[in-house]
Amino acid sequence: MKADWITQSRLWKSVFRHDLDDKPRNRALAVTSNIFLHIHPVRTKASALDLRFTFCLGGLSLLMFIVEVITGILLMFYYRPVPEYAYTDMKLIEHTIHYGMFLRNMHRWAAHAMVLLVMFHMLRVFLTGSYKPPREFNWVVGVGLLTGTLLLSFTGYLLPWDQIALWAITVGSKMAAATPFLGSEGPFKGVLNINEYNDMQYLLLGDNKVWGNALLRFYVLHCVLLPVLCTLLIVIHFWRIRKDGGISRPL
Ligand code: HEM
Repeated sequence: MKADWITQSRLWKSVFRHDLDDKPRNRALAVTSNIFLHIHPVRTKASALDLRFTFCLGGLSLLMFIVEVITGILLMFYYRPVPEYAYTDMKLIEHTIHYGMFLRNMHRWAAHAMVLLVMFHMLRVFLTGSYKPPREFNWVVGVGLLTGTLLLSFTGYLLPWDQIALWAITVGSKMAAATPFLGSEGPFKGVLNINEYNDMQYLLLGDNKVWGNALLRFYVLHCVLLPVLCTLLIVIHFWRIRKDGGISRPL
């Protein structure tokens, strides 16, 4: 083979321990000992590869999440989460950075696509009955992922710091003020002595109106806390698919 001098070299062998030949044992070892390949099972049922059963909606949701992480990190190089700069930074990204408009639109469209794909994936799982035992725990992990996806969209909405962002979050955060027991305008607010300076809306905004503290809190939630939580849930989701015997198949 032409590439033998590469695959038989000491450097290559220090990274890839097993030959990629046709022996089943070597092929299985090559998969299990590689950090990227081991995500897939060594053997898969042919019916599990039938695209018409899953439409790869879960895989496409993951692809959108990866696009979001990559484009999001690139946007972070140019964006400052303070009221003085946030809006102008957004405009500078669009009009002065090479491919800035493309980058921002990619981040926005992939976010819309992710919300739709996750919902369609959930619908597919429901319609094929794939939430039934032994997969009921993975359905619960999925609900966490759906919540995480929606919260990522909600927190990202404030960051452009334009009129629509400001007022949408003003309206959205009012819902937190209406929380029972913990919202200053919610039912039973008197029980815990809750007012507008110690309720759920104040916790979310760091203030009782949408301004600098809210922008910073949403930025940290959007760029750090929620992506880390979603990554953790995705890892558990995939691990669980393997432990539940691979994806479900048509009867
Ligand atoms: C970021 C969000 C999500 C990602 C990246 C994701 C990813 C995946 C992937 C790649 C699969 C393998 C089969 C396929 O591609 O359809 C899968 C299966 C599954 N997902 Fe998700 N998922 C997400 C959200 C959800 C949600 C919202 C639910 C339900 C509430 C859910 C429940 C399940 C269940 C029960 C399975 C096993 C289905 C089977 O074996 O056929 N997932 N997920």
